[in-house]
Amino acid sequence: MVSSEATPFAKTGGLADVTGALPAALQEVGDQVAVVMPRYRQIDWHSTDSAFDNMVVYAGTTPYRVDIRTRVENGVRFYFVEAPYFFDRDGLYNVRNTDYHDNHKRFAVLSLAALGVAQTVFPCDILHCHDWQAALTPVYLADQQHANPALSGVKTVMTIHNLGYQGRFGRSAFPDLGLNDGWLNPDKLEFHGDVNLLKGGIVMADWITTVSPTYAREIQTAEGGFGLEGVLHSRASALSGILNGVDYAEWNPETDPLIPARYSANDLSGKRVCKRALLDEFHLPSDDLDRPLLGIVSRFAEQKGFDLISSIAGLIAEQDIQIVILGSGDWRYEKIFRDWHRWLPHKVGVHIGYNNALAHRIEAGADIFLMPSLYEPCGLNQIYSLKYGTVPVVRATGGLDDTIQEDTGFKFGWYSAGALYDTLRTALGAFRNHDSWVARMRRGMAKDYSWNASAREYSALYKRLLGQA
Ligand code: ADP
Ligand code: GLC
Repeated sequence: MVSSEATPFAKTGGLADVTGALPAALQEVGDQVAVVMPRYRQIDWHSTDSAFDNMVVYAGTTPYRVDIRTRVENGVRFYFVEAPYFFDRDGLYNVRNTDYHDNHKRFAVLSLAALGVAQTVFPCDILHCHDWQAALTPVYLADQQHANPALSGVKTVMTIHNLGYQGRFGRSAFPDLGLNDGWLNPDKLEFHGDVNLLKGGIVMADWITTVSPTYAREIQTAEGGFGLEGVLHSRASALSGILNGVDYAEWNPETDPLIPARYSANDLSGKRVCKRALLDEFHLPSDDLDRPLLGIVSRFAEQKGFDLISSIAGLIAEQDIQIVILGSGDWRYEKIFRDWHRWLPHKVGVHIGYNNALAHRIEAGADIFLMPSLYEPCGLNQIYSLKYGTVPVVRATGGLDDTIQEDTGFKFGWYSAGALYDTLRTALGAFRNHDSWVARMRRGMAKDYSWNASAREYSALYKRLLGQA
C-alpha cells in the first residue's frame, strides 16, 4: 500500500483510519501487506530501523536520495520514506491553511520510493495506491518498468477516498515530475491546462476503487465527479466501490478506554454516565439527561454540510436541546460555531481543534450524531455512531446512504436547510418515545461494519487482477 497517512502515525482524516486498519485485516485473510508512507516529523526516527540506506530515486534526471526506515505496527510492516527536506515539517500537507508549494515533488518522491521498496526490500504483486498523494505510482510504474523487469508483473489499484482532492498543480509543476511531455496530454495527466495527479492514477491503474458502492456511481456524474466524471466513466469497467470497515478494537463502547464508562446494548447505563460527563466537560447544564444532546465531530469543510448546519441555529435556540461540536478547519465555520456558543452558552459547546479522545467521548455521550454531508465518499463517524448507540441524522449521499437505514437513523435526500430542519425535527420527535428510540439504538449497535468483509473484497480483487481467480 502506498499512502500519505496511516494511524497511528499520521492522520488528517478517514484515509488514515483505513490505511491503519485494512492492512492488518488483509493479513488476517491471508495476504502479506506492507505500507509505504513518509516519515513525517511527528514519527520518532528512533522508533524505526534501517531497511535500506541511500536509495536514489529519479524524477526524470533529478535524483532524490532517501533512506527507507521500517517498523512493525499491529503486525503490519511499515516502510517510512526518510527525506527530511520534504517531510520534516510541521503539517502533513500545509501550515496555517496554506499548502506547501512543493507538494507535487514531495508526493512524487513518495511514489518513486514506493517503487524502490517494491524492487528491493518488499517485492510485491500489487501496488495499492491511496488518493492523489500516491497516484503517480502507476504512472511512474508504466514509465519506468521497462527498465525494471522486477516490476513487470505488478498490478496497480487506485483507491479514491475523496474526489474533492485531486492534487492539481499549475502547468509549471510538470517538469518537476520528470515525465516526458507525452504525459501532459488530456488523456493522461493534463486537466484544463493544469497537471492533475489523481487523473494520472485513474488513467493508469489496472483497477480503481472508491470507498462505497454509491460513491462509485456518484463520481461518474457531473454532480459528483469534480470534472473527472468523464474519465471515470470511461473506466467504468475497471471501477468498483468497496465499503470501508471500521476498527472495533478502537471504536467499541464495551471496551473503549477513552470514555468515562463502558456500556453495551444490553446495559446502556454507562451511556448516561458518558452523557453527564460530556455535558460537564463542555460546561453545559446536566440537570436533565432526557434532553436530547446532538454531537458533531468533523473536519470543518464545505463537504460536511456546514452550510446546512449553520442554518439550524434557530432550531437549536427554539427547541429544548443541546449540541456539542468538535472540529477544525475552515475558519468561516470555526467563527460561526464560536458565535453560536456566545449566543447560546447553555446549549452549545464548542471545541475547536483535533482531539481523538474527545471524539470518542462525543460519540459515547451524545444521543444524536449530525452528518448532513454535501457528499461523503464513505464516512466513518456515522458508523462509529451506530456502535455507540448515537443515532445518526445524515444526508443520503455516498457511504452515508449505504450505511444508514431508516431503522437505524434518519436521512434526507435533497441538500437543503429545510430538509435537514424537517429531518431533525422528526428525529427529535422520535427521541421522545423512549422505548422505540432505544430499540433504534440497539439495531444500530448490532450492525457489523468490521474490516473483515471489506478485506475479503479487496483480496478477491487482487486475485482477479493477478489472474488467480
Ligand atoms: P473525512 O476523512 O472526510 O474527514 P471520515 O468520517 O471518513 O471523514 O473520517 C474522519 C475521521 O477523523 C474519524 O476517525 C473522526 O473521528 C476523525 N476526526 C475528524 N475531525 C476530528 C477532530 N476534530 N478531532 C478528532 N478526530 C477527528
Ligand atoms: C475521505 C472521505 C471519507 C472517507 C475517508 C476514508 O476522507 O471524505 O468519506 O470515509 O476518506 O475512506
